[in-house]
Amino acid sequence: MRVIKTKNYEQMSKKAASFIMAQVISKPDCVLGFATGTTPIGTYDFLAEWNGEGIVDFSRVKTVNLDEYCGISSENPHSYRYFMDKNLFERINIDKRNTYLPDGQAKDCNEECDAYEKTIGSLGGVDLQLLGIGNNGHIGFNEPAEVFPKKTHRIKLTESTIEANSRLFEKKEEVPRYALTMGIQTIMKAKKILLIVSGKGKAKILKKVLECDVDPKVPASILQLHPDVTVIADAAAGEEL
Ligand code: GLP
Repeated sequence: MRVIKTKNYEQMSKKAASFIMAQVISKPDCVLGFATGTTPIGTYDFLAEWNGEGIVDFSRVKTVNLDEYCGISSENPHSYRYFMDKNLFERINIDKRNTYLPDGQAKDCNEECDAYEKTIGSLGGVDLQLLGIGNNGHIGFNEPAEVFPKKTHRIKLTESTIEANSRLFEKKEEVPRYALTMGIQTIMKAKKILLIVSGKGKAKILKKVLECDVDPKVPASILQLHPDVTVIADAAAGEEL
């Protein structure tokens, strides 16, 4: 595992975007795994900028996202589909038919989760998965648990995640209580993983993720076992390392 500390959010974002750009340049038809949250917004801004300047070409890239809220439509500004469209896909030359997220409105969630796993498999797996971490160490929406959940599944969000994500909603009651998320095994099967972490509020959990025993109560700690992980933390998030 490589850990890179940058002086601020902008430098973290630029390094992360360079890393993703390098992946696309090395393999123009690669499969990128993307994440939502506030942390990757700066990374997506750089990618959009460089795509506009013709430095990186997404025309053959395919993407899969980690997760989606249950019960809200893709037109809802809080949905992760909407987030990805606005923050990245509509700003780059990707074919939107090649961008995949779990369908949080599916009638049969189990069927949808199985289909999502099959989609990832039929694309040939993920070449590079971008991750952020939740305040409780979750990745995707894999919340702290007694065991590591393996495949894509429906999950009940913890109170701490609902609380943390409510900052993006008008009222806490509006935050969906369930989500569909890639499982830990799905994430760990990615060939490379890039974890980005920003802000003082993540400093303690980042230290724990990197230094504690591998423990499903700190889901991101499993990344210690992945053969190719790069962590990019800004100074505030990296201050306890
Ligand atoms: C959500 C997403 C995660 C993300 C996390 C942290 O829960 N499901 O993928 O890493 O939020 O978000 P932020 O970057 O806003 O702190």
